Amino acid sequence: MRMVRVPLGTRSYDIRIGGDLLPGLGLVCRKLGLGRQCAVISDTTVAPLFGKSALRSLRSAGFEPVSINIAAGEQSKNLKSVDQCYAALANHRIERKSFVVALGGGVVGDLAGFVAATYLRGIPFVQVPTTLLSQVDSSVGGKVGVNLKAGKNLVGSFYQPQVVLCDLNTLKTLPEREFRAGLAEVIKYGIIYDAKFFNWLERDLDLLLRRDAKALTKAIARSCEIKAEVVGQDEKESGLRAILNFGHTIGHAIEAITAYGKYLHGEAISIGQVMAAQLSAGLKGLPARDVERIRALFERAGLPVQIRLTAPQRTRLRKAMMLDKKVSAGDIKFVLAERIGTIHIGQSVPDQMIDGVLKASGTS
Ligand code: NAD
Ligand code: GLY
Repeated sequence: MRMVRVPLGTRSYDIRIGGDLLPGLGLVCRKLGLGRQCAVISDTTVAPLFGKSALRSLRSAGFEPVSINIAAGEQSKNLKSVDQCYAALANHRIERKSFVVALGGGVVGDLAGFVAATYLRGIPFVQVPTTLLSQVDSSVGGKVGVNLKAGKNLVGSFYQPQVVLCDLNTLKTLPEREFRAGLAEVIKYGIIYDAKFFNWLERDLDLLLRRDAKALTKAIARSCEIKAEVVGQDEKESGLRAILNFGHTIGHAIEAITAYGKYLHGEAISIGQVMAAQLSAGLKGLPARDVERIRALFERAGLPVQIRLTAPQRTRLRKAMMLDKKVSAGDIKFVLAERIGTIHIGQSVPDQMIDGVLKASGTS
């Protein structure tokens, strides 16, 4: 098993990465000294796969868990589901020392984390992420929240878990498309922070695509180490943490104009990262060879790297970008790369340059 520590003073916690960790969930929670009552929040796809194992482990360690399941999918990440969870917690007499276990992908993790952050003004929570994306990104760093009709992740909080358990076995049932979407975040860490990691991904991507346990452990552990280092320095995103948003300004806008239906998050940010690399070439001198390496790696991972847009769609996309949380005084701030592994935040990009990249995409 690999352990990565997220260094946040009294709110520090471990990320445990390995095979077959779920049966040990109860013991890990007992070592944390958590209260007896707990709630396992999961979804209708994940609960039948791993719910029993989680509940059994918690019961045998002396806990009294209740299970709460939401419908699988992004459309459940809303205040209605939060309300349903609150009602179930109240029914089960969850108190301040009780805790929540988030068992599922990023949707469950963000929602259950938000429920834990707000119920009784905050009760402890444990992340058991079951998608590659949630193991390398969403379960770490404490961003929790839900969507509003007006937009994604508009209500939320920074609230750190007590521990994160990344059980590699849970990834065995993950659909191929979801797995590849998670790789988009893994590749991002190489681009923003670690050129050697990017080189390794280029070399061993095929092993990863076969879900080889050793390669997966390395990819997840290095991704978590990078996220932990960044979050440890800038928990609330006053500066450095913004590097994690490389490719996300365009990616989020692509998700928005396609009504969160056509592309998975990882697919949208794959296109977004390729476009951010192209903007980086123009504004930060990212060598053309690096732009091509970035594009080629996403493509080899089976991810989309371009999108064909009509002129009205390009206008909608630019409008959607203005709603991004990284907009300040009407100016969109981009995260751009100088080299693979070296990144800059807060870069303004002229409108015509964005339009040029959007126009060029999908025409080759
Ligand atoms: P998800 O939670 O919707 O999971 C994807 C699908 O896979 C779902 O249908 C789920 O039921 C299913 N699934 C999950 N684990 C499975 C398994 N082991 N086997 C089979 N099926 C499984 O999506 P996701 O990609 O994990 O997360 C996306 C969410 O994460 C978005 O809401 C996004 O906003 C959020 N996010 C949050 C952060 C953060 O820092 N908090 C970062 C990135 C993304
Ligand atoms: N996923 C971006 C962040 O955690 O800051």
